[in-house]
Amino acid sequence: MLNVVIFGAPGSGKGTQSDLIVEKYGLVHLSTGDILRAEIAKGSEVGKIADGLISKGQFVPDDVIITVLDNAIDQHPTAKGFIFDGFPRTVVQAEALDSLLKKRNIRVSIMLNIDVHQAELVKRLLNRGKTSGRSDDNLATIQERINVYEQKTLPVIQFYDKQGKHVRIKGTGTMEEVFTSICEAIDHIK
Ligand code: AP5
Ligand code: MG
Repeated sequence: MLNVVIFGAPGSGKGTQSDLIVEKYGLVHLSTGDILRAEIAKGSEVGKIADGLISKGQFVPDDVIITVLDNAIDQHPTAKGFIFDGFPRTVVQAEALDSLLKKRNIRVSIMLNIDVHQAELVKRLLNRGKTSGRSDDNLATIQERINVYEQKTLPVIQFYDKQGKHVRIKGTGTMEEVFTSICEAIDHIK
């Protein structure tokens, strides 16, 4: 089973590349950001917790998001494999993902770290904000998302580095160029 963690700062291209990976490798895409936005739209309890936090660029608490992800995995019993997009975002979440997969006798195969410099991230997200309707695609929240990423999420790289699963992907260049690097990394471990 191929299980990919797609990792990177806000705007690095996790969602874009996940769509291409799904098409080529037939994996199930689990984006915790997408799941939370759907919960907000439904007005569920989780959605109520997430709403104000997302618009400020803050994280949903680890215990909440870990339960959300556990339930999301359960909804795909016949999956060939998963892409985890936007999860894990903290070391606590990375440890939880290992346990959630272990109890199902599966494991993370590879962590793809899409590396994009800050000026490009801001440019992409401001541009997307013109049409996305996302409450977090404005300059103040984009900056806060990048700060939170640097403080809480960067240590996750080391977590996967220690496991020998971390692969850095150059995230600038065209979407096709980035995807080519991703395929090379995935095909190398298959
Ligand atoms: P989430 O939805 O995961 O947002 P994010 O990490 O901020 O990332 P984005 O979705 O904005 O960017 P992306 O990397 O997917 O890039 P994309 O492909 O869209 O999370 C949102 C919020 O939910 C969090 O802030 C938090 O509050 C909460 N949350 C979610 N998960 C959580 C968790 N695990 N724990 C706690 N809280 C959680 O690309 C961006 C733009 O760039 C697009 O317009 C795209 O077309 C363009 N683009 C892509 N590739 C290229 C390229 N190569 N060249 C030029 N443009 C490109
Ligand atoms: Mg995304």
